[in-house]
Amino acid sequence: MNLELWYPRLMLKDYVCTGPGETFAAGARLATFLKEGDVIGLVGNLGAGKTLFVQGLAQGLSVPDSVAVTSPTFSLVNEYRGGRLSLVHIDLYRIEEAAELEHLGLEELIDLAGVSAVEWCERFPVLPEDHLLINIEIPDIKTPGVDHRVLQVRGTGPRSRALADEWGNDLRLKTTS
Ligand SMILES: Nc1ncnc2c1ncn2[C@@H]1O[C@H](COP(=O)(O)OP(=O)(O)OP(=O)(O)O)[C@@H](O)[C@H]1O
Ligand SMILES: [Mg+2]
Repeated sequence: MNLELWYPRLMLKDYVCTGPGETFAAGARLATFLKEGDVIGLVGNLGAGKTLFVQGLAQGLSVPDSVAVTSPTFSLVNEYRGGRLSLVHIDLYRIEEAAELEHLGLEELIDLAGVSAVEWCERFPVLPEDHLLINIEIPDIKTPGVDHRVLQVRGTGPRSRALADEWGNDLRLKTTS
């Protein structure tokens, strides 16, 4: 897949996370701006930090610590309740063909969820038109002791663009203060 085509560069906002804690914290901050019905698509190689980001989201939504936020690589769908909004966590990595998705009823699940976060969302078109896309890149440049990730963020419609702006302003404030 050509990510350059898929993510027109001009529409991107990039944020650098200098370690796992920052990626987690970025998810937790985004959670504070989420509203019922928001959908987040996560793209990035194996081990990029998609699940860690969702763990941050769950914490930011005040999902109780007793609820384990784990990778749905095998379960395909996890749901975390008890927070400000329910969080549906989906992983499309192991889905091989679109027919498998029909049994899962993902579109309905996403429709009914408080908030949804979908790892490997580029594999199948299950997201609504207006969603927040986050591509987590592992940059080539290696700095000893620093494990960078770059979050490339794009809103694909009015709601997700407003969300990207709110979150982006907040991250900028945090990083410049
Ligand atoms: N800056 C960083 N941000 C996020 N994760 C990082 C960072 N630096 C190192 N890591 C490590 O990378 C790993 C990310 O794992 P995670 O399970 O979140 O990836 P993933 O994108 O969900 O992978 P998969 O595609 O297998 O589901 C963790 O072990 C984490 O500690
Ligand atoms: Mg994962």
